[in-house]
Formats: sequence, structure tokens, C-alpha cells
Amino acid sequence: MTPAAPTSPRRTVLAAKPSVTQREIDYVTDAVTNGWGTACYDYLNRFSDALRAFFGVPHVWPTSSCHGALHIALKALGIGPGDEVIVPDLTWTGSVFPVSWLGATPVCVDSLATSWCIDPEAIAAAITPQTRAIIVVHLYGNLCDMDAIMAIGRQHNIPVIEDAAEAVGSEYHDRPAGAIADMGVFSMHGTKTLTTGEGGVLLCNREAYVEAINTIESQGRKPGKHIMFWVDEIGLKYKMSNIQAALGLGQVERAAELIDAKRRVFDWYRSVLMEWPDIALNPEPSGCRNSYWQPTVMFGASWAMNEARRNALVTAVNAAGVNIRPVFYPVSKLPMYDACPHNRVAYDLHGRGINLPSYFDMTRDDADYVLQILHGKLTSAE
Ligand SMILES: Cc1ncc(COP(=O)(O)O)c(C=O)c1O
Repeated sequence: MTPAAPTSPRRTVLAAKPSVTQREIDYVTDAVTNGWGTACYDYLNRFSDALRAFFGVPHVWPTSSCHGALHIALKALGIGPGDEVIVPDLTWTGSVFPVSWLGATPVCVDSLATSWCIDPEAIAAAITPQTRAIIVVHLYGNLCDMDAIMAIGRQHNIPVIEDAAEAVGSEYHDRPAGAIADMGVFSMHGTKTLTTGEGGVLLCNREAYVEAINTIESQGRKPGKHIMFWVDEIGLKYKMSNIQAALGLGQVERAAELIDAKRRVFDWYRSVLMEWPDIALNPEPSGCRNSYWQPTVMFGASWAMNEARRNALVTAVNAAGVNIRPVFYPVSKLPMYDACPHNRVAYDLHGRGINLPSYFDMTRDDADYVLQILHGKLTSAE
């Protein structure tokens, strides 16, 4: 049913906010009180153990951001000037900037219209002798076609990195997003499903990369050498603090509950939006489980949505106190990169999509209110 015009008083609905319970407060209090000296890695170690169990991967490195995790991963692959890295055009810049910081060239490829994630055929077509890595992004919790992508990577002997910043808790044929490719990264920014305020994690499934990652992540010091202050090469410093790891541990221990909450919010939206004509929501193909980081509405052709109209809608809905967001710009549309308008799907999706608020203590009434406001602004703009 189309929701009725709002009768309740104006309220503010944030795009995202974390769920922090007494468990996290106790861990952080303990870390900040006792986690120094010989105990200064205790929560980092417990957090890392919890992540290894959650993702089922042998190697994890907590970092200060997903950007940092990806920077380390690419540097460990030896990527630098003259190299090309395939990236999805439709993503946040965090998936791409580390490529540029290493002096390599991001090659932006198109999305699939169904998943909004990178198109495997477009990946295959973009491979050149200079291609050194493929980064794929599980956009808004939606899943990339990992079997096809991994087959392309193996065929060309090119490592694949999964950017699961937005997809913690999504599953592809029983495998957690982020744990399927050669390496994975995800974000623990305050808007994400599991948070440490700012933070990230690098996951690795390949023994061959572990020594290089350990060296770079440890500011250039090769593991196993115990010569104080000796540094073997130029490294990076993106470490997470023990205090953040205490918060992260509580979040990972509550992961199932937090992911369930994201799915519950999406179901509330879906139960109403399924009656709106000509829209698409985040897909959940058979064999996949979407953690719905951001419930997203793509308006079909009959809505005559374009970038200007969509932006006006976002402004109007936000002005009413409901924080919706526009779908990302294709990275190649931003001023620092060459435009790729041939990425037609990505350019098209950008102009006709919005993300709806989703957080853990959101109520059904909040979700209905969001849709009432959205519906009101859509009809008043017609
Ligand atoms: C797909 C994607 N990759 C990378 C990032 C960067 O994450 P962080 O802010 O933790 O560096 C984000 C952040 O929102 C993201 O959405």
C-alpha cells in the first residue's frame, strides 16, 4: 500500500548510526584502563581471532581504514607506476584512490544492470598486458558474480581483491563476502554494519602474499627479525588501536544480531515498496544472502528520473529531516579521472537511485515514515 500522508510530527531520521551496547562499553573501558604495556595488543589479538573465525580466513590485519587496508594489499602485490588495476566505475572513491596513490592507473569498468556490481564480461574485456589486479566491490551489500570473476582472475593469473566495505554479513553461496577472493578488505567506519568509529580490516587467503603484507603493514620491518629499529623497506602505517579493537570485538561478537537488524529494516521497506510501480531494490539472487548495508531504490524509466531530478528529490527529502543519499557518482565522472561515458549502466544507475536510512534500532514506524516523506516529495515534484 502507498503510505498515507504523514500525520506524526516532524522527526529526524539519520542515514545510519551504530549500535553500541554495554558489552562494547565494558571492553573499551577495560582497554583504555588496562590495555597498556604488555597488554597493549590483547584486544587486537582477540579481535583478530574473532575476525578469522567469522570470515573463515587464515590471515587478518585490523587497520585504521578500509582505504589503508586496500593500500597495503596493492602495495604487497608490488603495484606501481605503469600498472593498471581494474575497478568498478560505480563505487566510492575509497576503492580506487589507493590505486592512484601508488602511481598505477585505475581502469573503470561498467556494472551489471541486475546487481549494480562490476560486470565480469567488462572485466575480461578490460584486461591488458599491464593489468596487475582486479578490485571488485559488493555495492550496498549486493554481491558480485564471484565465480565468474575468480575464473577470469585465475585464467589470466591476476589477483582479485574483494572490497567488502559495504557488505559485511553478505554471503555468496555460503562464503562470506570479503573472504572469497585472494584478498579482501572491509570498512569499520561509523556508518558501517560493524564499526570501530574509523577502521578497516585486510583479509588474505593466499600464503604467497602474507610475508609482503606483514612487512608493509609493519612499517617496512620484515617479520621474524628482532633488531630494534631496523627497517628493511618503505612501509605503511595504518594500524588500528587496541581501544578501537575492543569496540570491534564487541561488534563482531554481535554480528549476527546486527546483520539481522539490517535485513529486518530492508524487509519493512520492501513490504511497502513492492507495491510501488517500476522500481528495483537491492537484489538477493538465489544462493546469496544480502546484508543490505544500504537499502537502495532504483527508479525505472516511467519515473523519468535523471541526475538533476534525483538530486532535487534528495534535497527535498533531507530538508524534511529524512537523510536519504544519492547513489554514488561513477568514479570516472569525478574531475581527477578521465570520463568513461561508455560505462552506460554505471552512468545510468547513478542518476536514478537513492539510498534509504538503515540503522539497528530503527522501528517499523520509522521506516514507514521515511516512505511517507519520500512518497510525498515524489508526488509533489510531479
Ligand atoms: C566500497 C567502499 N570502499 C572503500 C571505502 C573506504 O572505507 P574507509 O572509509 O574505511 O576507508 C568505503 C567507504 O565508505 C566504501 O564504501
